[in-house]
Amino acid sequence: MSKKAGKKRVAIFISGRGSNMEKLIRSANEPEYPAIIVGVISNKTDAKGLEFAKKQGIATAIISSKKHGGKVATDEAISKQLESWNADIICLAGYMRLLSKEFCQKWQGKIINIHPSLLPQFKGLNTHSRAIEAQVTNHGCTVHFVTAQMDDGPNIGQIIVPLQNGDTKESLEKRVLIAEHNLYPWALAQVASGEISFAEITQASK
Ligand code: GAR
Repeated sequence: MSKKAGKKRVAIFISGRGSNMEKLIRSANEPEYPAIIVGVISNKTDAKGLEFAKKQGIATAIISSKKHGGKVATDEAISKQLESWNADIICLAGYMRLLSKEFCQKWQGKIINIHPSLLPQFKGLNTHSRAIEAQVTNHGCTVHFVTAQMDDGPNIGQIIVPLQNGDTKESLEKRVLIAEHNLYPWALAQVASGEISFAEITQASK
């Protein structure tokens, strides 16, 4: 079996800029990386990240509820696309749409997400301004397995980004994004190589 044949097949979901997606694609271009990126799905036709994925020769698909109707029907269309790519792992990278319970259960243990806070702190939106307002000492980012609850599920890894005097939402966001770009390729490699698995984490926490 060639090395490439042993690599996990990864689909990335985006809604916008796609800077985390870009880091994952660049990492997966490295010969020793344990995953390859087989496709990018967006719920937005104008997601900027789609351009980079296409330039890299990666398949892209726009799947939105505008075309497919309800959440469950849309998620079924997503599952079909993933199956046609033989995807093993899904990376949510700035995918700003909640997936259905059915979808999360079907792909349980195979979906990972990056979130710009030290979960379980600051689930949801506007994490940087909320961290500043709360005057926390440390902020940061988390990669975690996705379950049906928003920004929930066992953590794979976190990077702490300490707050600095005079931080604004923008300055903090900039530093956290750099941390995200380091964390996500590492976290995907852990999952793709089997070093970290949903089954083991959930078992260990019982
Ligand atoms: C990232 O900061 C990511 O953590 C966040 O959206 C941004 C996407 O940037 N995701 C969430 O807030 C999900 N809850 P990117 O498109 O440049 O990767």
